[in-house]
Amino acid sequence: MDRRASRASLIASLSPALDLSEGQTTGHAVRTCRIAMEIAEALQLPAEVRSDLFCAALLKDAGGPANASAVAAAFGSDDQLVKRRMRFADWSHSPTAARTALASAAMGGTPWGRLRHAARLARGGRRLARKLTGVRSTRGAEVALDLGLSDATATAIRNLGEHWDGGGYPQGLAGTSIPLLSRIIGLAQTVDVFLHQGGPSAVHAVVKDRRGRWFDPEVSDVVLSWSHRATWWSVIRDCRDAASLAGLEPPGQQRPLAPPELDHIARVYAEVVDDKTPYAYLHSRRVAEVVRLMARRLGLPAEEVRRLYRAALLHDIGKLGVSNRILDKPGPLNESEWKAMRSHAQLTLEILQGVPGFRDVARTAACHHERLDGSGYPWGLGADRLDRGARALAVADVYEALTAKRPHRKGRSIDEALEVLRTEAGSSLDLHMVDILTHCIDDEGGAGAVGAKGRAEARERSA
Ligand SMILES: [Fe+2]
Ligand SMILES: [Fe+2]
Repeated sequence: MDRRASRASLIASLSPALDLSEGQTTGHAVRTCRIAMEIAEALQLPAEVRSDLFCAALLKDAGGPANASAVAAAFGSDDQLVKRRMRFADWSHSPTAARTALASAAMGGTPWGRLRHAARLARGGRRLARKLTGVRSTRGAEVALDLGLSDATATAIRNLGEHWDGGGYPQGLAGTSIPLLSRIIGLAQTVDVFLHQGGPSAVHAVVKDRRGRWFDPEVSDVVLSWSHRATWWSVIRDCRDAASLAGLEPPGQQRPLAPPELDHIARVYAEVVDDKTPYAYLHSRRVAEVVRLMARRLGLPAEEVRRLYRAALLHDIGKLGVSNRILDKPGPLNESEWKAMRSHAQLTLEILQGVPGFRDVARTAACHHERLDGSGYPWGLGADRLDRGARALAVADVYEALTAKRPHRKGRSIDEALEVLRTEAGSSLDLHMVDILTHCIDDEGGAGAVGAKGRAEARERSA
């Protein structure tokens, strides 16, 4: 375990996964955080307020995966592309909103499909926008609280979509009834997307245009006063790495985390990953429960059990970078869709390798679709390159997917799932691991116990 991992460094280094989900360039959340902290410095905000601001800026998109499926369905388009376009559009201006919606509806589809989706979006109007923003803001605040962060941090995230003139969502708050931290981050995130698109002059133009409409005039004036800071803007523009936030980390968030705290953070992010595909709800949690039972049954040392549990919780984190048009597609995938789907395993590796505290689980997590006969992905590794952890995780992942209910099919029974696993055992899956899973199921009185736990939690969450 990386002993230096702190809550702040984990949240910062996991933020690129949220950037991917929102269709943003890598480092968007990190840059938003730097810009927000610079505004806080100019406004001379106290240290405890800056601490809340730091974490809220990095987690501002934590609720994004929760509306990704609905965004893809409503627009009939790639959710990441739609979200990226929406960050540029002045959608509080009705003709612009209508033009952007029309241009984003069923992209790449037939003219009839585009018209149908555009009409549906027009009918949904503000009600649809409020609903989609409400889902992401509520869930984002919940993630912050689940991570043990302050109410102020959660409140800042919950109100991020509000505008100074009352034209934002979900509540239509106006002026100073919008929390100051939401006003700062709302501006900072727009500054970053325009900085990347057109440089400081584009930032100046958008802030000037939306000052007093979207943005707090006082906070806007801080950013407008930076027009002459060419060097600072170029440093911010090139900033991608969470390490660049090291000097800004709040002192209260720098304490190294204990192993159970790291487990907890992995569980919270597993739920963020599972938010992205509603049909796969609690998939990561359930795979992790199965892997933990298997690791204990194998008699592995406690530290290795813990490592495999975290690898299983985070194995599909790369799916945050895959469009819901592909993840949610009920029929077979075409070649390019399949290529994008397979990319999630490589993305899992890339994301986790950048996270202090989770680097040691990156390779095992990324190997969950590798197969002993070399038929898996992303690398087509053979038996000689796959260790116990990767073999156990592959079996648990397939088992959970087979027994889970999907929109287009019922979940298979435990016996049916084991039968499928046994046909693969010895060729693509590890026979010994399938036997271990079978023993775990017998021990638990049916691994349905694991599934039942997941389903009960799902019911509780949706109630
Ligand atoms: Fe996967
Ligand atoms: Fe999976």
